[in-house]
Amino acid sequence: MAERDIWGNRTAFVLASIGSAIGLGNLWRFPYVCYEFGGGAFLVAYIVCLVSAGIPLLMLEFALGKQTAQAAPGAFAKIDKRLEWFGWFAVGIGFVICSYYSAIMSYCVNYFYYSFTLAWGDDPAEFFNRHVLDKTGDPEQPWALGSFRWQLFFGLLLTWSLILACVWKGTKTVGKVVWVTVLGPWALLILFVIRGVTLEGAADGLSYYVTPRWSMLWNFSPAPGEIGAHELWLAAISQVFFSLTVGFGVMIAYGSFLDDETCIVKNTWIIGLGDALTAIVGGFAVFGALGHKAHADGVPITEVVESGPGLTFVTYPEIINGLPLPHLFGILFFVMLSLLAIDSAFSLVEALSSSVRDKFGFTHRQANVAVSLAGVIFGLPYMFGSGIHWLDIVDHFMNFCGLSIVVLGTCLIVGWHFPASRMRHFINQRSDGKIDIWWDIRIQLIVPAAILYMLGFEVYVRLENAYGDFGLRSQELVFGWGMLLLIFFASVVLSLARPNLRS
Ligand code: PHE
Repeated sequence: MAERDIWGNRTAFVLASIGSAIGLGNLWRFPYVCYEFGGGAFLVAYIVCLVSAGIPLLMLEFALGKQTAQAAPGAFAKIDKRLEWFGWFAVGIGFVICSYYSAIMSYCVNYFYYSFTLAWGDDPAEFFNRHVLDKTGDPEQPWALGSFRWQLFFGLLLTWSLILACVWKGTKTVGKVVWVTVLGPWALLILFVIRGVTLEGAADGLSYYVTPRWSMLWNFSPAPGEIGAHELWLAAISQVFFSLTVGFGVMIAYGSFLDDETCIVKNTWIIGLGDALTAIVGGFAVFGALGHKAHADGVPITEVVESGPGLTFVTYPEIINGLPLPHLFGILFFVMLSLLAIDSAFSLVEALSSSVRDKFGFTHRQANVAVSLAGVIFGLPYMFGSGIHWLDIVDHFMNFCGLSIVVLGTCLIVGWHFPASRMRHFINQRSDGKIDIWWDIRIQLIVPAAILYMLGFEVYVRLENAYGDFGLRSQELVFGWGMLLLIFFASVVLSLARPNLRS
């Protein structure tokens, strides 16, 4: 097994984990998913899922890494030799996510450049769709690739070079880089929130964000066109996992680098709450700007045209336009966004490359270069005019289905096979604050039952719809499940491959 380096000091571990958690998930994904799934109701579901599922699972991942001193595949193999593939599967899903995550980072890099001239002008939506993406018209036809966006491709290359530079020296540098990438951005975020909530018309957006329509939370038999409670809860729980980087093997790998003294329980709470707070606070800026846009266009808040993954690239420029010294704040903001994103991306690269290192004895550098090259190649589909449609499909599928499957499996494997009580004792030995049997119950029963129910429903709805309309849904089905199957086969092959532990 490759030698494991331990974090330079204790704060470095916490910062690196916060760095992995806080990223585009908070400032790009959270607002648009929240907007799509009903604002206030989603916010409530998000907080419930965070406390009842996200934080217990984050604790579990840290403990699993620490207990086994292995990245994900090795960790699951230690529980049961036949389960190594499951660790690869988790890391595989994370890698697919990372491939589009870096495409969004490329948008950020491009927007950094556009900030010098405020190139988006008065109509950021038109600019984003036409000039940046040259988006293909009909979302039902993502097969028509559209034009290759060279500037996005250069952004992607730059992004991966930066990620590679960050991971080059292992966890010791990771620990240092995050000081800049986590603490710096917060100040700017607060400024954006203040501007966002004071824009004209912001109140409507904010009230959509903080006033839940409670009935949405238990609307289990939605009328056509309405959002069902299953989907809302699934969206919330997968956003929690995505944002905490739980279910990708990342926190298992980070836990494996942990020293003996660090309190697992307390630090998990710090990391979990720090992450959630960033998303929720950032939401005020975006919803303020949404209210402003709705007000300016004279439409209700639910009908602001831009929704989906493009939303934040329209709302932030809108806020920037309303600031004094907009060029300066534009530049600062997109640097901040890229900084927040970069440690999330390199945590995933680290998870994958430490898995490869543990198993095949690759050197750190070989593994990182290989992963980064693969990242560029897998990022190519998103560089076309149809890229954002693909991104939307892959994002939805990987998070709603792939991620839920991984979390479900983790609960079953650690909850029942390890089992949970043993893991709880392990955690309690290493923590000042203690967890009780309630933790076991959540890991063994509540979380898996809830996921199974929502996932079952999601799959059912998707199958139903796909037969009725052969548009986006059927492509999603073939493509999404095809991709999951591919990741599954790749995981099995990797787990069967003979280890080479020369290093
Ligand atoms: N947690 C990261 C964020 O919120 C997203 C992420 C998911 C990063 C998976 C790496 C792997 O931005």
